Amino acid sequence: MGRETGIRLAAASHSQLNTTALNDFVMPLRTPADAPTQLYRPIDEVETPVVVVDLDAMDRNMTDYVSFAREHDVALRSHVKTHKIPDLAHMQHRSTGDGVVCQTLGEVEVMAQNGIDDVYLSYSVVQRSKLERLVWLSEKLESFATTVDCRGNIDPLQSAAARHDTTVTAILEIDLGYGRTGVAPESAVELAEYVADASNLEFGGVMAFEAHVKADAESRADLERRCLEAMDGLADVVEAIKDAGVAVPDVKVGSTATSKFSGTHPVVTEINPGMYPFNDTGELGIRSYELDESDCAATVISTVISKPASDRVVVDAGSKSISMDTSRIPIPKHRDDLEYVRASEEHGLIDASAADDVEVGDRVEFIVPHVCTTINLHDTVIGVRDGEVREVWEVQARGKVR
Ligand SMILES: Cc1ncc(COP(=O)(O)O)c(C=O)c1O
Repeated sequence: MGRETGIRLAAASHSQLNTTALNDFVMPLRTPADAPTQLYRPIDEVETPVVVVDLDAMDRNMTDYVSFAREHDVALRSHVKTHKIPDLAHMQHRSTGDGVVCQTLGEVEVMAQNGIDDVYLSYSVVQRSKLERLVWLSEKLESFATTVDCRGNIDPLQSAAARHDTTVTAILEIDLGYGRTGVAPESAVELAEYVADASNLEFGGVMAFEAHVKADAESRADLERRCLEAMDGLADVVEAIKDAGVAVPDVKVGSTATSKFSGTHPVVTEINPGMYPFNDTGELGIRSYELDESDCAATVISTVISKPASDRVVVDAGSKSISMDTSRIPIPKHRDDLEYVRASEEHGLIDASAADDVEVGDRVEFIVPHVCTTINLHDTVIGVRDGEVREVWEVQARGKVR
């Protein structure tokens, strides 16, 4: 990608950014028990299968989005569902001062326990006991907001806040075509008024996840056009809510692939990308105009455990170490002569018919189909620089689905 600027330079030239560099020294928050024995070990000696982060590539990727946010005067609140690692969340929060996004209450709790005090929960909570946890967090954190999109989740949130005589900030999700959660644009004004009128809720603005536009985009220009078209639609909704007399302090949007287009639209105040530090085969496919394999910072390193035939090897990375929740397959990094053809739980079947130098014991590194669900399969993630282990992070919010 030719992006040479370190995060230190980007931070130093932006008045909005904390001058602390992403890679400045900070003591790890909670070190996995085996971390000290792994530090400075050559990566070739680390047991596999293992998720490894190329720290230089991650710094470049982070710098790219931080610089974008600075240039376009938009907040960058990173989605930490991608990695679930408090150290990385701190790094991202420090780089912009804009807080983080979580997708589950359990993730919010882990981040809060580790001192992150500005969190947006981009998900609706409805169960009574979970709402008690949410209200408690809302009171403890410096800044907290949650998400609503229908009366069915607004009413229990209002009741929970009222039970504890407090006020919770609610963001209204708008569906721009993704077809998951989110109120239809034509019903947004009515719901925004409903939230604004609720005695224990504060209307904090709107959120829209416009990731559907990337599926059909045929080129960079097409992706940009589709993002901006979606944002025009969102701007109409925001205007209508304002016309009804409800202020819209925040307009949050953005996935990794769309943020750098959507974030240029004047209606947007904040982007929420998640995968951008790492990338994966999905991002590589969509953003081929700016990414190559070296930008895929998080990979899984495996070991060949069997060569049952001259044209086939088996690696120790199957679907329990590389998530197969998409139709995409892992891509061997820097090895065009190998092809991942099938996964069972602990086995990865590799077509080696084009390779003449792959043997049992060799290591094969894969760009993963979906980085978020892959990291969620592992207890730890290893950061590598100059071929050595430099960080061992615990995936603390792993499994925190409630
Ligand atoms: C609401 C919301 N915002 C932002 C993101 C981040 O998108 P990405 O992981 O593509 O960067 C996600 C991811 O699923 C999401 O659900």
